[in-house]
Amino acid sequence: MNTTPVFDVLVIGSGAAGLSLALRLADKASVAVLSKVTLAEGNTLYAQGGISAVLDANDTLESHIQDTLISGAGLCDPDIVRLVVSQGKECIDWLLDRGVPFTEEISEDGTVHLHLTREGGHTHRRVVHAADATGRAIENSLEKHARRHPNIHLFEHHNVIDLITGKKLGRDDPRVLGAYVLDTSEHRVKVFRARVVVLATGGASKAYLYTSNPDVSTGDGIAIAWRAGARVANLEFIQFHPTCLYHPHARSYLISEAVRGEGGRLLLPDGQPFMHKFDPRLELAPRDIVARAIDHEIKRLGIDCVYLDISHKPADFITGHFPTIHARCLEFGIDITRQPIPVVPAAHYTCGGVVTDRAARTDMSGLYAIGEVSCTGLHGANRMASNSLLECLVFARQAAEDILRILPETPKPPELPEWDESKVSDSDEEVVVSHNWDEIRRFMWDYVGIVRSDKRLERARHRVDLLKQEIAEYYGNFRVTSDLLELRNLVIVAELIIRSAQARKESRGLHFTLDYPHADETRLPENTVLSPP
Ligand code: FAD
Ligand code: SIN
Repeated sequence: MNTTPVFDVLVIGSGAAGLSLALRLADKASVAVLSKVTLAEGNTLYAQGGISAVLDANDTLESHIQDTLISGAGLCDPDIVRLVVSQGKECIDWLLDRGVPFTEEISEDGTVHLHLTREGGHTHRRVVHAADATGRAIENSLEKHARRHPNIHLFEHHNVIDLITGKKLGRDDPRVLGAYVLDTSEHRVKVFRARVVVLATGGASKAYLYTSNPDVSTGDGIAIAWRAGARVANLEFIQFHPTCLYHPHARSYLISEAVRGEGGRLLLPDGQPFMHKFDPRLELAPRDIVARAIDHEIKRLGIDCVYLDISHKPADFITGHFPTIHARCLEFGIDITRQPIPVVPAAHYTCGGVVTDRAARTDMSGLYAIGEVSCTGLHGANRMASNSLLECLVFARQAAEDILRILPETPKPPELPEWDESKVSDSDEEVVVSHNWDEIRRFMWDYVGIVRSDKRLERARHRVDLLKQEIAEYYGNFRVTSDLLELRNLVIVAELIIRSAQARKESRGLHFTLDYPHADETRLPENTVLSPP
């Protein structure tokens, strides 16, 4: 018998979004939290710069809203932007109450307050941070609280395969009732049942060869929701972070935008600055502009990377603000207090995702989505730095309120069928999985990257269509493994990104195409919404 007890809420994912939701629910509901590997592993753990919130006396909510709308290039939902921005202070206070050690500073009058840094697109200092390892500080604090709570049941190394819906079972019940989950420690598939299911599975940047994201970010939640029947939107807007460490042994290690926020300058190999040619905001222009500028210079000069230099600042300033980046670069022989850092852009953030409303509800009854997996309307065509951790926390709160409201009238799910493995065998050709995985990530980088064209997208579409068929066949014949599950999700996400990019016949925000190099000002900006067949 592989069926677990019925939970009130099944939260899939244990990053900032999943854990903060679990903690907001757990005093009133039983919660199961699943994570694909260890609890802490995910994008949250690696977040560096911080969380945006209006805390400075000279800053205003209106200013944060305006900056977000400008970065989003006409596609943000203004009501959602206001909803999120206005909860910034409450979210920071909530994290402080849970012991997150944000960096403080002492002002001239002797009072202690949170230090605020700056990042691209922000016209004020408004990024709360824990030195340069903000995500680790948040994740560790939330994990500590989650592990202690008697109503939170943690399932590490549990990889969700698919949602179980009333419709899939041929019942007259449209709800999501649970999920099939591969327990990768015990190598068996379990059935989880819950009154409400929440996707908090993070982003999909592993669809690209070069990325700042850890291995778990394979867009599973997007593919799982799509297969279950939910709409997705704006998946063409993949954010490329301008500055990842360029070194043969560094797996796309991020160099925080806060380095530029604190005065770091982008230079060509001969030491010349170049951002003035692209934008009057120079190094602190929105990310899409900086990433494209770097890509342009790299291609124009045929160079491998550009350089990010903060060595003109005092050494103790650098090691105080960026201790982790300093230490990591030293491991590669780069002393950032004395030398410029070689950097290149890499896939970083998935602005689109599963369509949700202001309560984080998806199209499907009983299914919510929060954090990077969702498309809430906050980011539009380009996310502003440090708005995503804020979005995770705000939508966890929004979802918690709605879930606690509906739980009393939401019936327990019925018994669900066990996973059927009677028609499959163990794979004898694992190489197919690793080969296809590499192929997808390479053609996504080459053809669906920072600069696109109709021809490149068509090439990518052709390849993804072939691979989709091959992978579906493989999935139908062989017993599931984590690698196979991720590959099956990755190919769907890649297809959805390509289709979304093909649908947008203009350049806007993060989507830049040589065939339509300008925004289409003749029409009101529209989201790219895809509906499952
Ligand atoms: P994640 O933290 O990625 O967590 C996803 C969870 O889902 C994991 O627990 C994973 O195991 C689980 N999961 C996934 N698939 C499955 C499955 N099939 N079954 C079970 N579990 C599954 N944003 C900011 O606002 N400020 C920053 O300073 C910042 N810096 C960043 C730096 C880096 C290097 C990176 C990569 C991102 C950064 N971001 C930053 C973005 C931000 O960190 C993420 O958007 C955010 O942390 C996403 O949180 P999440 O909870 O949605 O997902
Ligand atoms: C960074 O520190 O540059 C990442 C910030 C973000 O992605 O919001």
